[in-house]
Amino acid sequence: MQGKVEGAGTRPAVDVVIMAAGKGTRMKSRLPKVLHQLAGRALLQHVVDTAGELMARKVVAITGHGAMEVEAALASMAGATAEFTLQCVRQEPQLGTGHAVQQAAPALADDGMVVVLSGDVPLTQANTLMHLIKACGGDKLALLTLEMTNPAGYGRIVRAGGSAEGGAEGAVQAIVEHKDATDAQRQITEIYSGIMAVPAAQLKRWLARLDNQNAQGEFYLTDIVKFAVADGVAVVGYKIDDAVQVAGVNSPVQLAELERAYQLRQARRLMEEGVRLADPARIDVRGDLLCAHDVSIDVNCIFIGQVSLGEGVSIGAHCVIANAVIEAGAVIHPFTHIDGEKMGVTVGTGALIGPFARLRPGARLGAEVHIGNFVEVKNSTLAAGAKANHLAYLGDATVGERVNYGAGSITANYDGANKHRTVIEADVHVGSNCVLVAPVTIGAGGTVGGGSTITKSTEPGALSVARGRQISIANWARPKKAPKP
Ligand code: UD1
Ligand code: CA
Repeated sequence: MQGKVEGAGTRPAVDVVIMAAGKGTRMKSRLPKVLHQLAGRALLQHVVDTAGELMARKVVAITGHGAMEVEAALASMAGATAEFTLQCVRQEPQLGTGHAVQQAAPALADDGMVVVLSGDVPLTQANTLMHLIKACGGDKLALLTLEMTNPAGYGRIVRAGGSAEGGAEGAVQAIVEHKDATDAQRQITEIYSGIMAVPAAQLKRWLARLDNQNAQGEFYLTDIVKFAVADGVAVVGYKIDDAVQVAGVNSPVQLAELERAYQLRQARRLMEEGVRLADPARIDVRGDLLCAHDVSIDVNCIFIGQVSLGEGVSIGAHCVIANAVIEAGAVIHPFTHIDGEKMGVTVGTGALIGPFARLRPGARLGAEVHIGNFVEVKNSTLAAGAKANHLAYLGDATVGERVNYGAGSITANYDGANKHRTVIEADVHVGSNCVLVAPVTIGAGGTVGGGSTITKSTEPGALSVARGRQISIANWARPKKAPKP
């Protein structure tokens, strides 16, 4: 995600302003809008990450609604991308986008270029912004614009030479907000995206001249365009045709639409890298998915955090895989849940996992390990060739090579207060329905009889049976019902 964009060294310093004070009423949510998640990251996190890709010197976030929560979230976001300084400024009350940026002005140095972004516009690509920055060049006002078939509600780009006639490519004269626009101006289909790049010193002078004499009684940031024109500063419109990059999130419907657009892009990228997806519309990547050659992924899989899939890995339908390394040739059968969380999970070469397997943090599976249905593995190492094929639990265990761990067996790793380790040495066979009460070691090559509760360590090669001895009573007559009188 943190791919740096080329050419950043040869330009004025970039400071980014992120507007994030708005209310987001239409989300109908307690959570501030910019903290809603897209592809597993807060909307605002996407924007902050993009600022990181621009190699911004400083990021100034403008908060208002839900400021405490947004600022707390920002503090942890900056931790991940510490290459810029992050400053929050409050905008209270919210009197418009111009008023918002006015609050940020004291935090901006005069020598830089300011890129204005919105916390609720998550999918702008850094490359697009690099073009905008280039268009600004440190001395012009550059506006990111878009043609829209239905531009209602947006600010219109008014160009010289009769924009009302439509599509004129003359110099930008002004941005007119929809509510302030004449009928003729409302015919204009080129809209302002809400994103601009502007020299900081000029921006500050223009901000000081804003008023709220307009249809909404707001201080419009977009009014700086007419000041630029009046001051003889060139205004350039940099038009893109990819609406997703400038789409804002105002409602759950728009959030879901952008999520799907984002996921489809990820799917396309994966397929371009050679990954075979059963259906590009049915995969979700919430983080970074790294794939070697000849990976195939069936429908409805979700990848979370950092996941890497080695050559030839096959992922069955309906798997959820988070923070895991799956090595070459491994097969993950349908409905498997792998969650490495902070400790990670590794699945070795040629391993067979699932269906219906659950691998939890710290599961380290060697080559050719088999984990079958309804088997849970947590914080355990299984050496090459070990198998647990049915209905079992391995927690805090070290399992040697070629161990066969029977159906229904569990490690009792928790005594109610502390966790203890179970060691099962190489070539052990653990029968079905055993309880291995940790701490305990099963010596190499040993066998544990089915149904045993093992509380003491066993010697290598030993057969251990720990259960009630079977008794059989010959010719035993079952009780009979008394005949009804
Ligand atoms: C703004 C532009 C409009 C453009 C549109 C693109 C202005 C006056 N108009 O419209 O030309 O077509 O974006 O989406 O700038 N915000 C604050 N404080 C405020 C007001 C807004 O932080 O007082 C934030 C919002 O949270 C949001 C962003 O600024 O992230 C844009 O605000 P929004 O109300 O969506 O934009 P509009 O004014 O409708
Ligand atoms: Ca508004």
